[in-house]
Amino acid sequence: MLPRISATAYLTPLREGGSLPGLMEADDLGTYVVKFTGAGQGPKALVAEIVVGELARALGIAVPELALIEVDAEIGRREPDEEVQELVTTSAGLNLAVDFLPGSVGYDRSFDVEPVVAAAIVWLDAFVANVDRSARNTNLLIWHRSLWAIDHGACLRFHHSWGDVGTFAGSAYHYGDHVLARIGDPRRVHEELAARVTSALVTEVLGLVPDEWLLPDPTRPDARAPQDAAAARSLYTDYLLARLAAAERWLPAEARP
Ligand SMILES: Nc1ncnc2c1ncn2[C@@H]1O[C@H](COP(=O)(O)OP(=O)(O)OP(=O)(O)O)[C@@H](O)[C@H]1O
Ligand SMILES: [Mg+2]
Repeated sequence: MLPRISATAYLTPLREGGSLPGLMEADDLGTYVVKFTGAGQGPKALVAEIVVGELARALGIAVPELALIEVDAEIGRREPDEEVQELVTTSAGLNLAVDFLPGSVGYDRSFDVEPVVAAAIVWLDAFVANVDRSARNTNLLIWHRSLWAIDHGACLRFHHSWGDVGTFAGSAYHYGDHVLARIGDPRRVHEELAARVTSALVTEVLGLVPDEWLLPDPTRPDARAPQDAAAARSLYTDYLLARLAAAERWLPAEARP
């Protein structure tokens, strides 16, 4: 289970994030980057954050701790900025808290990344079809001299329009757009990482997602969307395990020397 906390104060919006995450304080005295259910891509982005963030952690990739945070609409009403006020009040209830890494800076190429660390991140991103790790928007932070992966909300795009499992499973990955693709070769870690993504692990990470985020999104009707949380968990598992089984279709054609 993810820890459950309650927000006590809204500190500031993080305007570099397109979804307008907010820095908040919680009743455990922690400071968190909160990603809201009412933001652009809706609760599905938060499902992707949990599933991919926790898969990353299980693969040994550094990711900030996650928690489920209860946000009272009153906190939103107190905000002078109208955009923030609307986002926070429409997101009243459960949201996703990402442990804030104070003093972290965005990754740039001057930071030396070990090839095996890069390879694991590239492998994960290819597996979950993450398009959000480009040189322009790396979604990687440097903190305590290590590389930390954040922002997995755009992964698992199949859940925005439930199509054929095989089409997603076999779709190629565009390594050219990935900021770490020249540093780490996913083939070198494939065997080891693929063996860790068992159906038990996938079931475990899906068990961390609140049921309500797995239900059909009334603002985005999709006739093929699973109708309850159990059906959704089982379908996510099918997509992920099918993609793993089709690895030869999305791994780069050849290992680099
Ligand atoms: N855990 C964290 N610790 C410190 N800073 C963070 C953390 N999470 C996010 N940030 C900062 O906030 C910014 C926005 O966060 P994030 O990328 O998760 O939001 P987003 O709205 O999904 O962004 P995008 O525009 O890439 O879709 C990051 O680029 C980073 O600068
Ligand atoms: Mg981002």
